[in-house]
Amino acid sequence: MVLLNGRKIQKHVEGESGLTVLDLALKHEVDWGFACTRGTCARCRCLVTEGREHLKEVTDAEWDRLEPEELDAGYRLACQAVIKEDGPVTITHKPYF
Ligand code: FES
Repeated sequence: MVLLNGRKIQKHVEGESGLTVLDLALKHEVDWGFACTRGTCARCRCLVTEGREHLKEVTDAEWDRLEPEELDAGYRLACQAVIKEDGPVTITHKPYF
């Protein structure tokens, strides 16, 4: 599992099922902006470019906060996206600002 942030910092970490992407980023000291951890601020927004199937399904909070086109494109909220299993996944932190 690869986590990237906007400053091009890249970390290869082992995915731990049950953790959110944000939990994993913080655990491995990847600088990953966030604020609410409830799915409302979208500061943790990220783009999953590989391995969406290794994450649990989109939550109600993500449906409420993100546009359908964003979800189709692979955007998730890191505080809501829970890891289902380890696997080849690439996720980049992509906040709106
Ligand atoms: S931290 Fe606010 S939506 Fe994830």
